[in-house]
Parts: sequence; structure tokens; C-alpha cells
Amino acid sequence: MSEELPSTDIITLTRHILSDQYRLGPAATGDLTLLLNAIQTTSKFIATNVRKARLINLIGLAGETNVTGDEQKKLDVLSNDIMVNALRASRKTAVLVSEELEDAIVIEDKLKGKYCVVFDPLDGSSNIDAGVNIGTIFGVYKVSEGSTGTVADVLKPGSEMVAAGYTMYGSSANLVLSTGNGVNGYTLDSALGEFILTHPDIKIPSRGKIYSFNEGNSMYFHPPVVNYLNSIKYPANGKSPYSARYIGSMVADVHRTFLYGGIFGYPDDKKSKKGKLRLLYEAFPMAFLTEQAGGIATTGRGRILDIVPTDIHERCPVFLGSKDDVNDLLKFYEHDK
Ligand code: AHG
Ligand code: MN
Ligand code: MN
Ligand code: MN
Repeated sequence: MSEELPSTDIITLTRHILSDQYRLGPAATGDLTLLLNAIQTTSKFIATNVRKARLINLIGLAGETNVTGDEQKKLDVLSNDIMVNALRASRKTAVLVSEELEDAIVIEDKLKGKYCVVFDPLDGSSNIDAGVNIGTIFGVYKVSEGSTGTVADVLKPGSEMVAAGYTMYGSSANLVLSTGNGVNGYTLDSALGEFILTHPDIKIPSRGKIYSFNEGNSMYFHPPVVNYLNSIKYPANGKSPYSARYIGSMVADVHRTFLYGGIFGYPDDKKSKKGKLRLLYEAFPMAFLTEQAGGIATTGRGRILDIVPTDIHERCPVFLGSKDDVNDLLKFYEHDK
């Protein structure tokens, strides 16, 4: 029996986005390609720091609190600086919004480009010190016609994003990206230093068997969420109950939901009136990817991507995942009207 030889024709992320650019013809300027290239470099840079964190004293608190009230870890600050530096230097950005920076950065004229990037430099920072999966989340808008780049260019519904993605730093680094034409996943080959296409055209299964909520907050949950969770934990008709999986890093919980199906939720509740997750750089990019992968992303009362932000750090309730599972949840919200 002859074994199959390894492929000599690998598709790198750079090759893949370049082929997209050529597919669009001469109208495509290549600016988005260069921007996405800068973003993938930041993910490689952050991935190597995550791997070495324990060895180079990158574990622990930085000593400050960010504008949404989180204590900043050293890796939060470092990842933020890596992204700001690379995105500014790419000459393709006009406005940057980061979880770790109170104000939006408006790029100076000599380096200004036509894209705005909103990002969560390090997601799941409570998991850093335990070596559990963490990630980076990003969304890309184009500046409006005639605008030189202001905060107004990012206070737009998520449906207007031109690209969104995340990188998960786990047993391998996985970058998942959509430019509005489906979702593809790439795995970092650290020997090559390249992200290789390993998950072409990701589609979320239409139903899963897993729910992913922080049920420690159950005493604060509103009735539709409590009733939905009860329906999958105590199903009727002899069906099996769902399994619980909750890592506490949105990137990792959403990544598993994309691959295995099921539902991820971080609801608003009696304590957190708008939920916990931030609209611009957590909810929007993940909702964009979810829809591109054939799933549903909702607040329970409406489509996430339709929300018009009024503040760069505002929060929003999030439920996303398999179509059938999210629709089951939505029935409980319907009854609650
Ligand atoms: P971040 O580390 O970027 O501040 O995000 C934390 C978020 C998100 O990753 C995760 O889904 C959620 O917080 C977990 O919150 P709980 O610890 O309240 O479950
Ligand atoms: Mn944080
Ligand atoms: Mn986060
Ligand atoms: Mn973060």
C-alpha cells in the first residue's frame, strides 16, 4: 500500500486573499489585501508571545483598568500595541478602535488609508495565566465616501463591515476570515510561518448538541433564557439533553460552535443590562462570520448586524450558532412579548 505524499501545492492565506483580489479584476486596488496581510502578521506576532508568555514574564496584570472596566493583563497591552503599530504602519487604515483604548485613534494624514479596523487584541484574558485558548477578534469597515476618517466611520451597523475574523491561539493558531464571500479557516504552520488553508468554506451545522453559556449567572437570567436552557437540559419525548461547554474565551467558544454546531450565548440579565460583550469588536465580527457560515446571530430581540452603534465601547446581548438551535431560543423570546 503506498501512502499519500504530502501536498506540494499549499494554499497560504496570502495566496488565497491575492487570488480573491485577482478575481475582482482591475477595480480591486489591493489595499484590503495589504491590510489583511498586516493583520495576519500581528496574529503571528501575538501567537509567538502567547506561546512564550510563561517564559518571558508576560503573565499577570499590567496594573491598569480599561474603559470597559476590565483589569488589563500584560498580554492585553502588548497585543494592543502590536496591532496599533502594525495597522498604522500598513498605511491602509484611517481609524482604529481597540478594547484597550478609551478613544478611537485617527491615523495621521501621511499614513492614512481608507479602512477602519475595530479589534479586541486579546480575547479571553482571564484564561491567559492557565494557558487556556485565547484569541484576537477584528472587523474592518471602509471609510464613507468623502470622509477623511472619523469616529462616525465606525459607528455603522455590522452589516457594513467589509471583512471580519479572529485568530484563536490554542493547540495551534487558527485564523478564521470572511470578506463577505463565505468563511475560511487557516492554521499556522509555525515552521513555515504561514497560515495554511485547512478549513475551506466553513458552514455551521444546522443543529448541534452543545450549549455554551456562563450558567453561573443563572440567578440573573431573564425568563426566555432560563426557559430555553431548561428545554435543552430537560427535553421532552425521550430526547437526549444537550452537553455544556464553556471556556470563557469568546473566540474559543465561538470557534467550537462554528465547527461542531450548537449555541453560544452571553445574554443581558438583571445585573448586566446590556450583557457583557462589546458590540463593535466582539459581537459584530462574530455575527458577521456566523451569518457568512449559514448561522444566526441575534440579541434575542433582533439581528445583531442591524444595530447602529452610538458608542465605540457599547455592549450587546449575543446569541449565535446553528440555525435550528438559535431559532428554538427565539421562540422563547417570541412568547415573552
Ligand atoms: P476580554 O478578555 O477580551 O475582555 O473578553 C472577555 C469576554 C469573552 O472572551 C468571554 O466570552 C467572556 O468575556 C467571558 O465572560 P465571563 O467570565 O463573565 O463568563
Ligand atoms: Mn478585557
Ligand atoms: Mn473579548
Ligand atoms: Mn480583550
